[in-house]
This record gives sequence, structure tokens and C-alpha cells, in this order.
Amino acid sequence: MHEPDLVEYFPADAAAWISETPLRAEYARLMRGFHRPVPWAESHAPSLEPDVRAELGRIWGERIPTEYRSITGFSTLSFDFIAAGAPVDMVAVCHRVCIDELRHTELAVRMVDLYGAVRPPLPREISSLPADESLSAVAQACRSAIVLSCVGETFACTELSMLRDRAVDPVVRQVLTIFLADEIMHARVGWAYVAHAMKTADATTRESVAAAVPLHIAGIGANLFGSIESAAAVQVTNEDPRLAAHGVCSQREEQDLYRAFIPEVLIPGLQACGVPVDRAAALAAIPTQ
Ligand SMILES: [Fe+2]
Ligand SMILES: [Fe+2]
Repeated sequence: MHEPDLVEYFPADAAAWISETPLRAEYARLMRGFHRPVPWAESHAPSLEPDVRAELGRIWGERIPTEYRSITGFSTLSFDFIAAGAPVDMVAVCHRVCIDELRHTELAVRMVDLYGAVRPPLPREISSLPADESLSAVAQACRSAIVLSCVGETFACTELSMLRDRAVDPVVRQVLTIFLADEIMHARVGWAYVAHAMKTADATTRESVAAAVPLHIAGIGANLFGSIESAAAVQVTNEDPRLAAHGVCSQREEQDLYRAFIPEVLIPGLQACGVPVDRAAALAAIPTQ
């Protein structure tokens, strides 16, 4: 049983995979967060051509496992933070990120339902972060923060703001607004930690953090660009211009954004934090296609 006002504000009142125990009420409060409600009834989904609706259902379905899996990435980062003696506010925000990613999962499920697509089974994938026994705890935490937050989440912010700006559908706009508002904090946790750690890091730590940056750029690039052998890991792009009004871009646009993001945002940002990134090596790590 749940209170009516909970349903009104809960971003996914048909909560996926819910326990139906009293924890449901606390879950609803966490999912609501600080966000405005989504105007579900204003969705353009019912008037879309069937092929457009099906493709949007597929795209939102692709987001369910990636959002859910990213909980495990940030859980690992919180372990890295604690091992490195990170300040408690950073540990706390890291845990908030895990809750936000559940919200994104719920919203993606709701979008799949809205477009009439089939809801996939509960994802069980775990994302593992590269771990190197020879690194100090601070260097490991910095590397994890950079790959997850400074590259992954910060790039997600640039892409989400592009997608949200072009979206005309009021439900898509509000869902992407919630994603973007949360992702800005997810990006910030990494930048804040790296800047904090670099203030007292020795030269060896700085260099070992910087040395991994091209690998992070290539790794996330491979997910976005795919390779000759395998397509991009997550296919959330489409060339069809009819989808733009519903917050979708082409793979070419996504790749161009990544190519601009590395020199304009990532490299100067890391250098400003005190990470001695080799600019030429970082640029060379961007996949070419
Ligand atoms: Fe997310
Ligand atoms: Fe995120």
C-alpha cells in the first residue's frame, strides 16, 4: 500500500522489481529526490508512428542495464575513496550517486513501458574498475574517479545537455533534465576528489594517475565508437531525424562530441587539477573512424 501523494511525485510509480515490503516507501522518497515530477500524461508517445515508437522503446531499453550497472562502478569507487582516506563528504556523495542511478534505471523502465516495448529482465551485470596492486590507494582512487566521473559522467553531461536541448516531447525533456541534474553531481564528485588529492600528491602519484588517462580515453571511446570487429557497446544513437525531437542523436554526432570533449574539457580540466596529462598522448587515444 502506498500514499497517493507518493505516486504523484515518484518518477516511476510502477517501480520495477520492487520488493512490496515497507521499504517501498523509503525507496519512493529516495527516487523522488529533489526533482520536479515528470508530466507523464503529456507524452507524445501515443501519436508516434509505430517504427519511431518501437525504436525509442529499444533505445530506452538499452539504458536500463547501463544505468543499473553504473551503481556497481560507484560502489567500487566508494571503497577506493575509503581506502585512500578521502574526506567524508566525497564518500557520502559517492553513495548518493548509487541512488541516482537507480532513479535513472526506474525512469528508463518507465520510458520503455511508455513506448510499449518489452521490459527486460532485472540486470545482473557488474562493472569492474581496473585495479593495479602496485598503485598507492590515492593513485587508485584518482584513476577510478577519472574513468568514472571525469570522463564517463562528464561526457554524459555534455551529451545529455545536447539531447535535452533538442527534445520537444515534454516527458523526454523532463526525464533528461533529471538525468542531467544528477549527472552534474556525478561528474563533480570525481573532479572534486582529484583536485583534493592532487593538492598533497607526490610526483610518483601524479605521474601514475596521468599515465592512465590515455587508456581511459581509449576505453570509453571504444564503447562509443565500436571497432571493426564489434559495434558500439551501447546503441542509443540513430540517424533518423524524426527521433531528434525525442532526445536522440546520430552516432556521428556522439563521436564528434567526444572528439571535442577531450581537448576542450577533459585535458584542461585535469591539468587545472594538477594532473600532468600528456596532451599529445591523450589526443592520440581518441578512436579514429
Ligand atoms: Fe545515470
Ligand atoms: Fe551517472
